[in-house]
Amino acid sequence: MKKLFILIIEGTTRPKRESIKAAKFIYEVGKTIEEIDVTLVSPEDFNLPYDGNDDENRDPRYTELTAKADAFFIVTPEYNHSFPGTLKRLLDAELDNYIHKPVAFAGVSNGSWGGVRAIEALTMSVREMGLVATFTDMHFPRVQDMFDENGKIIDEKNIKRVKKSFNELIWMAKTLKYGRDTIKSA
Ligand SMILES: Cc1cc2nc3c(=O)[nH]c(=O)nc-3n(C[C@H](O)[C@H](O)[C@H](O)COP(=O)(O)O)c2cc1C
Repeated sequence: MKKLFILIIEGTTRPKRESIKAAKFIYEVGKTIEEIDVTLVSPEDFNLPYDGNDDENRDPRYTELTAKADAFFIVTPEYNHSFPGTLKRLLDAELDNYIHKPVAFAGVSNGSWGGVRAIEALTMSVREMGLVATFTDMHFPRVQDMFDENGKIIDEKNIKRVKKSFNELIWMAKTLKYGRDTIKSA
């Protein structure tokens, strides 16, 4: 059977970002799951100087990746109780390629809450994009203490937690792919 393709989006361009460690960890766990292929990107990988999703303001590589994606896994830090503007800019660059596809979330913060408010804000926004949110969020509270100096996760229980998020996302991806392929849209 053809593998599902999951696009992991790390949601900030901040040069000293801690959330890249969380995103790389999720990517590495994803690589161990037989039935999926994963790719990790962040807003800085694309050329999107202007707002909107007009043809001339798109990055063809992002268009291609989102068209190919069966599901998305967004890893977002919390900035001022929401998610970063560069992530919004990236997500806004497409629309049709998201419709009836699932999205899982991981929230990252240096405080105790693990980006819960970023995920809450993002959930409202992705719904308008036609994405379908899963309910098995992953959290990285006090992210600065969660990885060693080589970027390795310290508490290995987090591997199981990420796999749980992936399992739900995969189920949703299969279900929604079946729907897109076989049931005519209303
Ligand atoms: C502009 C900005 C706003 C932030 N606002 C919040 C916030 O509202 N809540 C919070 O828990 N952490 C906040 N933080 C701290 C982040 O949680 C912290 O930087 C963490 O490492 C994740 O973000 P990073 O990937 O940019 O490092 C903020 C950080 C920045 C740069």
